[in-house]
Amino acid sequence: MKRRPIFLFAMSLLAAALTVNQVQAADSAESQLQALQQQGARPFDAQAGQELWQQQVNGRSCSQCHNADPDQPGTHQRTGKAIPPMSVRANPKRFTDAANTEKWFRRNCRWTLGRECSAQEKGDVIRWLSQP
Ligand code: HEC
Repeated sequence: MKRRPIFLFAMSLLAAALTVNQVQAADSAESQLQALQQQGARPFDAQAGQELWQQQVNGRSCSQCHNADPDQPGTHQRTGKAIPPMSVRANPKRFTDAANTEKWFRRNCRWTLGRECSAQEKGDVIRWLSQP
């Protein structure tokens, strides 16, 4: 069957659109840090991120479920289920889906600290967890 040029042109446009879409869907620690920076945060500070991770509030802390050493797996404090390591160097899948990261920050900051984390705090934590 002989294809008309317009058909081939439409197909290549579609292929290009799909490719662009896939590239945009792949988030990273860096792309999330850029987005958080644009929400008015100061430069991010890995040390502050580590301190937030270990800070105890009413006997709760991030490291309770996630492990104080982010290269190691954690254990969910209530269910006992294993949680894969949080650092990007130990677990390259971390921070590759901004919607997922945002969902867990909201849930875990509320549970652990009794409030949502600010853009500054989220960026400090991601900066710490994505150090080479
Ligand atoms: C009660 C247990 C628990 C506590 C406490 C907890 N988390 Fe989590 N967290 C989880 C679970 C379960 C997941 C989802 C499983 C996974 O991503 O491996 C998760 C996932 C995340 C993610 C998603 C990472 C990604 O891949 O994008 C972030 C970010 C996160 N937690 C941050 C925090 C921070 C910050 C704190 C402290 C303020 C905290 N968590 C405290 C259980 C906990």
